[in-house]
Amino acid sequence: MHYLTRIWAHLALLIPLVAKSFAVAVAHQNVLRLNPTLLYNISTNFAGNSSDSFLQTTGLDNSTAMMRPFIAYDDEFEHLLAKDATLEHLYTNPDNKPVADEMGIWVWDHNEVWMSSSSVDNISYTSILDLSDQSVKPLLVSSNGIPILNPNGGGYFNGKVYIAGDGNATIPPAIYEIDPVTLDARIIIDSYFGLRLNGPNDLTWGCRDNNSWLFFTDDPLSYYYSKGDFPTIPDATWRWDPKEETLLPVIDRTDILIPNGIRVNKDSTKLYVTDTPSTQVPGSGFEQTSTSPEQYYGSDTSAIYEFDLGPDGFPYNKRLFGITQRGISDGLHLDDDGRIWTAEADGIVIRSSSGKVLGMINALAIQRPKVADSSQLPLQNFALAGDRIIILAYTQIYQVRLSHAIVKSMT
Ligand SMILES: *[C@@H]1O[C@H](CO)[C@@H](O)[C@H](O)[C@H]1NC(C)=O
Ligand SMILES: *[C@@H]1O[C@H](CO)[C@@H](O)[C@H](O)[C@H]1NC(C)=O
Ligand SMILES: *[C@@H]1O[C@H](CO)[C@@H](O)[C@H](O)[C@H]1NC(C)=O
Ligand SMILES: *[C@@H]1O[C@H](CO)[C@@H](O)[C@H](O)[C@H]1NC(C)=O
Ligand SMILES: *[C@@H]1O[C@H](CO)[C@@H](O)[C@H](O)[C@H]1NC(C)=O
Ligand SMILES: *[C@@H]1O[C@H](CO)[C@@H](O)[C@H](O)[C@H]1NC(C)=O
Repeated sequence: MHYLTRIWAHLALLIPLVAKSFAVAVAHQNVLRLNPTLLYNISTNFAGNSSDSFLQTTGLDNSTAMMRPFIAYDDEFEHLLAKDATLEHLYTNPDNKPVADEMGIWVWDHNEVWMSSSSVDNISYTSILDLSDQSVKPLLVSSNGIPILNPNGGGYFNGKVYIAGDGNATIPPAIYEIDPVTLDARIIIDSYFGLRLNGPNDLTWGCRDNNSWLFFTDDPLSYYYSKGDFPTIPDATWRWDPKEETLLPVIDRTDILIPNGIRVNKDSTKLYVTDTPSTQVPGSGFEQTSTSPEQYYGSDTSAIYEFDLGPDGFPYNKRLFGITQRGISDGLHLDDDGRIWTAEADGIVIRSSSGKVLGMINALAIQRPKVADSSQLPLQNFALAGDRIIILAYTQIYQVRLSHAIVKSMT
């Protein structure tokens, strides 16, 4: 081989190596493009820390590029973003109360996102973001005597909003159904053989053929949250069949200790449920609550599990799908292409249906809320609202525009 040709051959070998070792910025100024291999092979001198974002890992990339709103590990995520997409600020709560925390329900035919607040004076509330004028108003249900107490997660199905409420020491935890037009509310589930639920966390509807089922997770958070009775039934994942008028436990706590986020895919062939790490895990958000039941019950895993969902609506074939680096995979939403979106401590992480991490909406780019509870992470949940993502960041709400609608009529 000619000497010069040999040098070129060496250079050609070197270029991809250089590109592989470091962060590669691409045309879109708001996207930091990282090689997906960096998620498991950085360099011999790397130092990561579960108190920090993965992006703050020493040896990865310490440029200001890590403050960009989007991190892409795959073209697929970049293609989801609208041209020049950024974190658009939509709303700041004037009284600085953490109004936007959990739930993230897109009530598509009313152009609204329903959300629950973080605990304010030990009580949480439901608020409604009107996407047409970006105003936020409290949910005031019209049914007398039904306070939707300490709401957490929820879902929208067949024209009705369903909310999981944690209750308090006197008002039992319950699942509520609300008509978004009349704002009439009713309780649909509040007990099992006369025992109080522990604290419904999140819910989702699945339907096959002519059957539909409401799946919800029940965990001991209400005890921690509202100092109610200590849990009297085992934590479980439950299924309500309105046609059969039957409430069944479908996933045992030996399978998932503290079930949290829950979603089915578009055709109801898969069910995803997340577990909750114990208080001891840095970044879990529960470290400060030494009386929290997570301390006793916690599984020490922030795992996301996938189940097959049979035509009879029963989950089977439990499979580990993903583990978050830190935080809880709390906000859990699926788009119509089966991608799994989770709000983790690092940001909103997007995984393909086969589990590959495609990208992330970066929590480092979101201002940490200045609220009394300083343990709060920058965000906990979000809504997939057609062709935009609505990010619930406590006192702030942001949106990210997408190149096309990723969810249609249901979330
Ligand atoms: C892993 O990373 C090191 C350091 O960047 C690199 O030298 C090595 O080739 C990588 N391994 C693979 C299989 O890419
Ligand atoms: C991890 O990072 C935090 C905050 O930067 C620091 O206080 C802590 O000492 C670090 N832990 C380790 C094991 O490096
Ligand atoms: C990267 O940042 C961390 C602190 O965030 C620092 O300790 C480390 O030295 C930096 N690494 C490099 C290569 O600059
Ligand atoms: C909230 O709960 C804490 C712990 O139980 C208590 O110390 C505090 O007084 C409560 N605050 C209000 C406003 O009820
Ligand atoms: C539970 O909430 C209801 C409605 O806000 C309130 O009247 C009641 O006092 C609360 N119970 C406790 C123990 O705080
Ligand atoms: C669904 O319900 C319709 C109307 O009641 C009925 O005609 C159809 O056979 C049902 N389909 C299945 C799969 O049960």
